[in-house]
Amino acid sequence: MKRFFVLTILAMLATSCGNSSAERQSAAPASLHKAWWKEVVVYQVYPRSFKDSDGDGVGDLKGLISQLDYIKSLGVDVVWLNPIYASPNDDNGYDISDYRAIMPEMGTMADFDALLKGMHERGIKLVMDLVVNHCSDDHEWFKQSRSGRNNGYRDYFHWWPAEKGTPPKRWSFFDEESNAWHFDRTTEAYYLHYFSRKQPDLNWENPKVRQEVYGLMKFWLDKGVDGFRMDVIPFISKDTTFPPLPAEYNGNYPAYYAKGPHLHEFLQEMNREVLSKYDLMTVGEGAGVAVEDALKFVDEDRKELQTFFHFEVSDWGRRKGDFMYPDSSRRLPDLKAVFDKWDKVFEHKGWGTVYLGNHDQSRMVSRYGNDTPPYRDSSAKMLHTLLLTMRATPYIYFGDEIGMSNIRFTDIRDYRDLATINYYKRLKKEGGNLAEFLAGQAEVSRDNGRTPMQWNAGLNAGFTRGTPWLKVNPNHATINVEGAEKDPNSILNYFRKMIRLRKTEPALVYGKFDLLDAENPDVFAYTRSLEGRTLLVALSFSTKGSSVALPARFKTGKLLINNLTESPVQGNGLMLKPYQAVVLEVGK
Ligand code: GLC
Repeated sequence: MKRFFVLTILAMLATSCGNSSAERQSAAPASLHKAWWKEVVVYQVYPRSFKDSDGDGVGDLKGLISQLDYIKSLGVDVVWLNPIYASPNDDNGYDISDYRAIMPEMGTMADFDALLKGMHERGIKLVMDLVVNHCSDDHEWFKQSRSGRNNGYRDYFHWWPAEKGTPPKRWSFFDEESNAWHFDRTTEAYYLHYFSRKQPDLNWENPKVRQEVYGLMKFWLDKGVDGFRMDVIPFISKDTTFPPLPAEYNGNYPAYYAKGPHLHEFLQEMNREVLSKYDLMTVGEGAGVAVEDALKFVDEDRKELQTFFHFEVSDWGRRKGDFMYPDSSRRLPDLKAVFDKWDKVFEHKGWGTVYLGNHDQSRMVSRYGNDTPPYRDSSAKMLHTLLLTMRATPYIYFGDEIGMSNIRFTDIRDYRDLATINYYKRLKKEGGNLAEFLAGQAEVSRDNGRTPMQWNAGLNAGFTRGTPWLKVNPNHATINVEGAEKDPNSILNYFRKMIRLRKTEPALVYGKFDLLDAENPDVFAYTRSLEGRTLLVALSFSTKGSSVALPARFKTGKLLINNLTESPVQGNGLMLKPYQAVVLEVGK
């Protein structure tokens, strides 16, 4: 009871501080300016893992087309599709050898046209991945570039001639030696690759490279695609004298790579030449971008991008360093503080995004929820409630709508991701602790998020009639779309209901966000307020019953959604069951 009063006082203070800062605002915040891309819900499809139509074990465009009615039934508005362009697949399509062709495993350009048509007929927009920090070493540009120092394409990439000595250290994400310079014998020079050796970085200092990129963007936009998700876009600009790294960035290479000298000039030029000419949506992958720099990318007056993904939620609960490990010491109040901080960044300008999973992360329910049998269902629903009640454009990763969970491989031979495989090789060479590494990867590896979609309980979960490129999670026997469709209380049907709620409550899109009871270790609670309407969201992140105090002036009203059957309201507070999630009206 004592704790209840303390929490009440704290919550009142938090709320009144929130109000006074709002009162200081004279004009309506720019973020209240309505735009279709602020109101949409995005569904991310990793095409290799979604649906295989021809039995080669790899998902493809025809497979995706066959599931468009399912996607429509979710209530989402946009599909973001990971790369489907021609690629030798060193990094599953993030190494592109022809930006204007479709990878044969995925299908043909005619399949692509049919896909786009099928989406548009259903009122679904398509956002494509734009991977232009680097291409594949099989791209004609690189083949030309590496063939001779005087070749016309030489300056499409970053070369360091061997006679200048060893180039200054740059880290690589996927290289076995974490060395971003690779020596190429043909011309006795090193080329730069922030990612794998088969992903040479393009030289954006060269205006011809930028024109090539703008040309390929127009090619897809003129076909009718509705926007781009821009892969590691903050890394495109580099100081091409390659000075030694400043001491403050040692070890923190994403932050250093995101601060190139001409980055914002390039984005403004891209905006002038391409983006401003179309009605589209843009989202940058904001690797390394900190709150201080956020508005440089998305302040409407600067005319660069509309939104980007920051990494502070996906980094939460992970020990950083070259290899990733889970860190169980992270507490819920830290996570809430991250959401609160990023909401404030876009309170008056720009606009945010929210995601809890993607193809580079392990499964949402395994990381932020609890995938053990008693809690998987409720915690997945709770996380969908979070995603769909934030003041930001929500991105939902395929399979999360049915609560797919980590597969947790224990054998390195089961992995397909070059990041895990190359880290393993490096650690082995260095004599590191391989058992600890594998235990960590079982929780954080990207392949956890890439296992095939679980359509039914049958062979290979209905994903393929062949051998799947990555193992199917054995839990498809119970976790699959077919079963979820039949159960009115499934995660899938809750997700649909939650999307409908977001669509009928503008406060959930545009309303002001105020965190309540910030230090509460078990409950994430906040209000969303717009034009006199206030909604309260309370989410339990605990396996125990937990309470949250409400400001004394609040009167809880109608319960709009609840992931459990028990009502949580008690007097002036809420008593939540484990992983309970509710959205309520609040009266004054
Ligand atoms: C981005 C992609 C990731 C890819 C990397 C290199 O982080 O999301 O999948 O491996 O860029 O392109």
